[in-house]
Amino acid sequence: MDKFAHIIGWGSYLPERVLTNDDIAKTVNTSDEWIYTRTGIKQRHIAEARESTATLAYEAASRALTVAGLTASQIDLIIVATSTPSHMFPSTACKLQDDLGAARAGAFDLSAACSGFVYALTMASQSIQSGAINTAVVVGAETMSRVLDWTDRGTCILFGDGAGAVVLQGSSVPGGIMSSTLRSDGSGGELLSLPNLYRPPAPVSGMEPFLNGHRHNVIQMNGRQVFRFATRVIVDSIEDVLEKAGLTVDDVALFVPHQANVRIIEAAAKKLKVAADKFYVNVEMTGNTSAASIPIALCEAVEKGMLKPNDNVVFVGFGGGLTWAASVAKWDVTPPEITRVDQQLRRVRFILARVRSRLRRIGRWFTGLGRSPTPEARLRDARKK
Ligand code: ACO
Repeated sequence: MDKFAHIIGWGSYLPERVLTNDDIAKTVNTSDEWIYTRTGIKQRHIAEARESTATLAYEAASRALTVAGLTASQIDLIIVATSTPSHMFPSTACKLQDDLGAARAGAFDLSAACSGFVYALTMASQSIQSGAINTAVVVGAETMSRVLDWTDRGTCILFGDGAGAVVLQGSSVPGGIMSSTLRSDGSGGELLSLPNLYRPPAPVSGMEPFLNGHRHNVIQMNGRQVFRFATRVIVDSIEDVLEKAGLTVDDVALFVPHQANVRIIEAAAKKLKVAADKFYVNVEMTGNTSAASIPIALCEAVEKGMLKPNDNVVFVGFGGGLTWAASVAKWDVTPPEITRVDQQLRRVRFILARVRSRLRRIGRWFTGLGRSPTPEARLRDARKK
């Protein structure tokens, strides 16, 4: 029997702290007027020091599970699309698995820059359609503020922090994710990059050639080239994914594009001959939140009642890699009423997951499995052998 992967839950989270264009103009040579006219951005949200990509992901994922009416133990797979994990490993997805208490879930991070959410949605939906799993949580989460050179006015004005998530579930009812297209072109990698997440060794004599003149840990971008690339691939991937689904742009109720620059989105709408208001835009209030931007925008569109059952919705992303991707989904759920009790339950579940995690750590401590031997103990063991 055919299996279909339906979106049954969604949630997003933006940190409280807001940084306006005027705030940035106090530290670099720019202005609200320049930023707004070139990008459409007015403000962005910035994570507090106590927050991380994983805590943002938790907020979004737990809200999505509440909407879906599921508990964490029902999740088979967690994918977190991110370019800003706190660690290369353990993955942000594993941290999220623990925070949610998703005891049966596999978990991994996915790196495809701003296309990451659509890549992750595709991987999860295909795992469901193949019958390998039944329920997945797909998250896009970023703390871009931590990988920006705040003295580079060409990049620091663009990005923001946030997270968005959807819950996918398998069903024999036709619908859900109908088609996807994933593309990449590594030859354009240097146009938009985030070299090395780890700090390079302190410059020592002889090291310079290896650093190759690159700056590490901050985003580097050729804005004009990325702009040109983005306007082309949005259109290509939308046409491709609609053709695969046997649809035309007229069959689409809403396009939810990656939110990088309002001019990129308007140019794509014009090329496709689609009314600009069919493209959801919220970049003004969030900036570019990379892999998080599409699910955050989707949540807002749903809250505003812009999607009804049987509407076709297209997600389209583009970004570093270079990568680009699109998916088309049939929207087949009505948003449920989230009561105060549901919200309280979410908090209780979080506390229970923390307790469970703590108990597992204590258990590991007692059995000695969690204690890594000291170098001296390792040496003693080796000598004994
Ligand atoms: N404030 C004032 N002036 C600025 C600023 C600023 N913040 N930034 C650049 N300028 C200046 C430049 O120095 C340049 O001055 P010059 O002519 O004296 O040399 C002038 O403005 C024009 O600079 P451009 O870079 O050509 O400006 P452009 O119109 O291309 O706009 C922008 C720059 C907004 C970055 C645009 O190129 C863009 O949006 N590109 C796409 C970026 C993008 O979407 N990136 C994310 C992709 S998704 C991902 O994977 C992360």
